[in-house]
Amino acid sequence: MDSQPNRRVLVCQYRTCTRDGAAKVLQVFQQQQITNVTVEACGCLGLCGSGPIVVVLPDNTYYWHINPQKSKAIIAIHLLGNKEIPAMMHPRLHPN
Ligand code: FES
Repeated sequence: MDSQPNRRVLVCQYRTCTRDGAAKVLQVFQQQQITNVTVEACGCLGLCGSGPIVVVLPDNTYYWHINPQKSKAIIAIHLLGNKEIPAMMHPRLHPN
């Protein structure tokens, strides 16, 4: 039996996020090999200017200002460790 839940990772590839480096972020997530995790490029999530934006479903976790290094933290801590990373979550969608 597999211990990892089914998850989808969405990485915005629209204008502002792409300008801020979202292509490299998408690349890092595409290279992960976690069972039951799928990665998708997506359109604008309405959070332009605080990107690159990464969403983890079904957890509904919105991460902002993501770079390749933070992507690796999401993979290790959230996708593999099943723990959200509050310090990297968008404060408008995840108020304290
Ligand atoms: S361009 Fe990424 S949220 Fe709008």
